[in-house]
Amino acid sequence: MASAIEIAIEIKQLTKVYDGKVNALDGVDLTVKAADIFALLGPNGSGKTTLMRLLTTQFRPTAGVARAFGYDVVKDDAKVRKIIGYVPQEMSVWTDITGFENLLIYAKIYGVPSGQRKKSIWDALQSMGLDEVANGPVKKYSGGMIRRLEIACALLIKPRILFLDEPTLGLDPSARKAVWENLRSFKKEYGTTVFFNTHYMDEADLYSDEVAIINRGKIVKFGTASELKHSLHSEIISFSLADPGTDFKHPSTAAAPPRMLPGILERIKALNFVEDAAFNDSVLDVVVEDGEIALPAIIEVLRCDGILLDRIRSTRPTLDDVFLKYAGMRQPKTQGEVLHEASGIRQ
Ligand SMILES: Nc1ncnc2c1ncn2[C@@H]1O[C@H](COP(=O)(O)OP(=O)(O)OP(=O)(O)O)[C@@H](O)[C@H]1O
Ligand SMILES: [Mg+2]
Repeated sequence: MASAIEIAIEIKQLTKVYDGKVNALDGVDLTVKAADIFALLGPNGSGKTTLMRLLTTQFRPTAGVARAFGYDVVKDDAKVRKIIGYVPQEMSVWTDITGFENLLIYAKIYGVPSGQRKKSIWDALQSMGLDEVANGPVKKYSGGMIRRLEIACALLIKPRILFLDEPTLGLDPSARKAVWENLRSFKKEYGTTVFFNTHYMDEADLYSDEVAIINRGKIVKFGTASELKHSLHSEIISFSLADPGTDFKHPSTAAAPPRMLPGILERIKALNFVEDAAFNDSVLDVVVEDGEIALPAIIEVLRCDGILLDRIRSTRPTLDDVFLKYAGMRQPKTQGEVLHEASGIRQ
């Protein structure tokens, strides 16, 4: 029998009203599985930091319940603090001392026993790839190294849940990758649950097991990144038709350009998983529910009609598109992906 899934965070109807008037969280229900990487996406002011502050026991909710590994964040707040690490959105290290000295201060704050401090500090530095620069002043670190040092501080107590508020904000792609590679290997070694807030859709897509989108204090979508993207049902496959040339002989309409072939659009539209099809100059655009299933059947129809193709391009919904739909804040950005170059698909 399969073992029960362990729950790291359980939130029911969590509400936070600031100053009796700002409804920052409005009845949030959410479950995060143990050892998962969970991403919370949302526009500015949607309640991400507020949720993280409630879960890390910095604020009390106005209503509702939240538990971390069964501990209530209000009633068992001291126990919760013993099992969590937190990296705030704002900078949380001192720049005029060394990385090691920063960790030493945090080790004392967290109550790491003096006999264990050195080992805990070097473990944390190693986990974030900072052991070689540990004795240098933080003011000489890059932005990415500072972020990794802040995360190392939160790892000192080997937390069961690590909360990261916008962990890679403002970092370049290689610094972001370094943060995530170190985090992933730490998580692999210790089975830590990671809960992070972000505006970077690609990061949520690449690194999270599950994603929730929050808008105006409510969770509006939850699932894996792939489930969220599939929920849009709007992949477009674009077939660039080759110029038939002089040697092209269609069995029934020798001189006709492909777009004029009678009934071809109807035959494509009648296929399973195809929602729509249209010609735009020499490109045939087909809207499909599931490209992987629909593509072979479409190619077969084109092949039977003797149509030559130059290339096939698939435009799949990205997490940006999902975000736009459910949080309604950004222009959609779609990524075209060339599936096959000409020679591979000429029939
Ligand atoms: N301490 C506070 N007192 C009063 N209102 C607050 C406080 N903190 C946040 N708010 C308000 O609560 C709402 C949610 O803010 P929050 O900081 O949680 O959003 P966020 O999703 O983290 O935004 P961002 O992406 O900009 O970091 C906003 O309307 C904000 O102005
Ligand atoms: Mg925030």
